[in-house]
Amino acid sequence: MKVLVTGGAGFIGSHVAQAHLDRGDDVVVIDDLSTGRVENVPPGARFIEMDIVSGDVANLFDRERFDVVNHHAAHMELRVSVDKPAHDAAVNVLGSIAILEAARRTGVSHCVLASTAAVYGALLQFPADEQHPVEPLAPYGVSKRSMELYANYYRRSHGMSITTLRYTNVYGPRQNPYGESGVIGIFLNNALIGKRSVIHGAGDQVRDYLYAEDAAKANVIAAQHRLNETFMICSNTETSVNEVIEMLASALGRELDIVHGPPKVGDPPRTRGTHALFTGLTGWQPRVEIREGIRRTVEAFTKP
Ligand SMILES: NC(=O)c1ccc[n+]([C@@H]2O[C@H](COP(=O)([O-])OP(=O)(O)OC[C@H]3O[C@@H](n4cnc5c(N)ncnc54)[C@H](O)[C@@H]3O)[C@@H](O)[C@H]2O)c1
Repeated sequence: MKVLVTGGAGFIGSHVAQAHLDRGDDVVVIDDLSTGRVENVPPGARFIEMDIVSGDVANLFDRERFDVVNHHAAHMELRVSVDKPAHDAAVNVLGSIAILEAARRTGVSHCVLASTAAVYGALLQFPADEQHPVEPLAPYGVSKRSMELYANYYRRSHGMSITTLRYTNVYGPRQNPYGESGVIGIFLNNALIGKRSVIHGAGDQVRDYLYAEDAAKANVIAAQHRLNETFMICSNTETSVNEVIEMLASALGRELDIVHGPPKVGDPPRTRGTHALFTGLTGWQPRVEIREGIRRTVEAFTKP
């Protein structure tokens, strides 16, 4: 199977590319390296530096004739999306349309799109499932929701087969520690470079963390099953920031340099999703529990 992974030089996309290679697939990665790094592209995948918003995407699809497209390239800094909503929409809406349109034109048999639980806005039900009301709060969630609606359009009007995966908080090796979110990567990197980390508020806010390899496996399974729907991909667990700090300290073998700052405006106290729908149809389960996932992440970040 010939698979295109957009954003495959980034964090989750590089794990998806690896998971497809592990299955014996022929993998092509495109990425503009805006936040991704060439070193993240797994050996065995063919890398092409390309902006998904550029006109080059159409030619690439004509030339390569992909069987499956896995779309992870995105702009994903929530706060930047507030300051630059047009940039966020250009990449996440127009870029996604360019990918879907090229896939339609060249007869790609299945697409998997990376979406986010941010489409829900403030969570009202715990754990959140796919039926949870959708009311994104920031432009990032709006642009991802737009991508989902375009996927519905391509399913309905062009008969395309598309799985949309809504992640909660994914963490693991190759997580970008310089972004605004992704507390595990940021705190770990700070500890390694001797920088103090700031906990916003008391640290009792809880998140649903999913290990990157588990997320990547869900992508490969989605491509195999060709399920034409939207799914929550999460761990259905809750871990507080304080617990994350304790697990990082335990894996590093030393305390972290931490201060508490004022709570972030709009930071939700709790996120938790359920993957029951996807699990019921495919058997996929998150396998790596958070303490082990953090141990592996620390190992990867500290490897010489
Ligand atoms: N990390 C999470 O917890 C999380 C949660 C929900 C959803 N997601 C989604 O998963 C996907 C991957 O996120 P990630 O955490 O790996 O982030 P990431 O920044 O590591 O990966 C995104 C990749 O897309 C590339 N990219 C950005 N703009 C591009 C463009 N115009 N053309 C080509 N490539 C471009 C970047 O260089 C980067 O390599 C995104 O779609 C994101 O919205 C991530």
